Amino acid sequence: MFRDLSVFLVCVFVVQCLADPDCSEPPKKKDFMGCCKKPEALSEIITKCSEKYPFEHRRPNICYGECVFNETGLAVDGVIQRDKISSVIGEFYKDMPDLIPVATEAIEKCGEIIRAKMEKGKERKPQGDDQCHHVPSMYAGCFFAQTTINCPDSAWQDTDDCNRAREFMKSCPMPHRPKE
Ligand SMILES: *[C@@H]1O[C@H](CO)[C@@H](O)[C@H](O)[C@H]1NC(C)=O
Repeated sequence: MFRDLSVFLVCVFVVQCLADPDCSEPPKKKDFMGCCKKPEALSEIITKCSEKYPFEHRRPNICYGECVFNETGLAVDGVIQRDKISSVIGEFYKDMPDLIPVATEAIEKCGEIIRAKMEKGKERKPQGDDQCHHVPSMYAGCFFAQTTINCPDSAWQDTDDCNRAREFMKSCPMPHRPKE
């Protein structure tokens, strides 16, 4: 009983309990999907695309990312339309101005991460690559992680599950593939 209590107290007073998450134990999808509030129009696209291309073995279907980017108008034939980034983000996040710089930075940072990965040739071709472009799908996962990590307080769901999911995304190497 005292031991349980001391573990509890350590967790209350030391943030260490959240740091160094176990990277082999990714959070469940349902525990982090809604952590950073999304604009309604984006949520509708996400719902539509995840119904059309459901997760397989807890991994997003590769067509899901292309579907989302197609619907937003940010990708054409698998190519991110960089000149449209600021207008598309400005339109989607018009009612959530706190998120505009976060989303813009996320897209830019993800572009760098993805370009670097492709130059190194490190990125394995994911399943389903023959049906859909995998660049938008890499962007989708990266964008989601970046906006979750940098989500402003005004849009953040301050729950244990969300805080744990954010620690995981901060500390564990990308891509954050849930274990099967
Ligand atoms: C996305 O749009 C392209 C045309 O720009 C189309 O060829 C492709 O099938 C679409 N992909 C999805 C997943 O809807």
